[in-house]
Amino acid sequence: MRRLVTALVVAAVAGTVATLAACDRTVAGGSTDGATVFRAACASCHGERGKPPQQMAAQLGVRDLTGAEFRARRDRATIEGQVRKGSGNGRMPGFEGALTAAQIEAVTAYVLTLGD
Ligand code: HEC
Repeated sequence: MRRLVTALVVAAVAGTVATLAACDRTVAGGSTDGATVFRAACASCHGERGKPPQQMAAQLGVRDLTGAEFRARRDRATIEGQVRKGSGNGRMPGFEGALTAAQIEAVTAYVLTLGD
């Protein structure tokens, strides 16, 4: 059951990302405000302010972006790479093509402020 739920969530989000990519980069209306992009593209898994809902953490292994452990090792290049390529295990989709370069830069800068 847990695997099924995980697969369904990933498939749903991957579908959304693909759809968004197909409709010519319209995530958050093309906004380059980091918080706005985060709400539109990331909050469904990571929560509005980077702290994932318990269910997402438990079922999908979503990381807490406000936690001390992540904040101690976060840097621009790692976050940007994660956003572009997603997680190697397929639980987080890559956003390359779905978000513009400016949106990726903005959301990366926003993630660097989470938990402050
Ligand atoms: C489908 C749910 C989902 C969405 C949508 C999603 N993520 Fe993730 N994210 C995850 C999961 C699951 C992980 C943990 C992956 C792993 O196990 O390596 C993760 C990990 C991360 C990490 C690495 C955390 C660490 O501990 O190193 C960052 C940074 C991140 N996400 C940022 C984002 C940003 C920014 C967005 C929006 C552009 C986003 N995520 C959208 C599910 C998601």
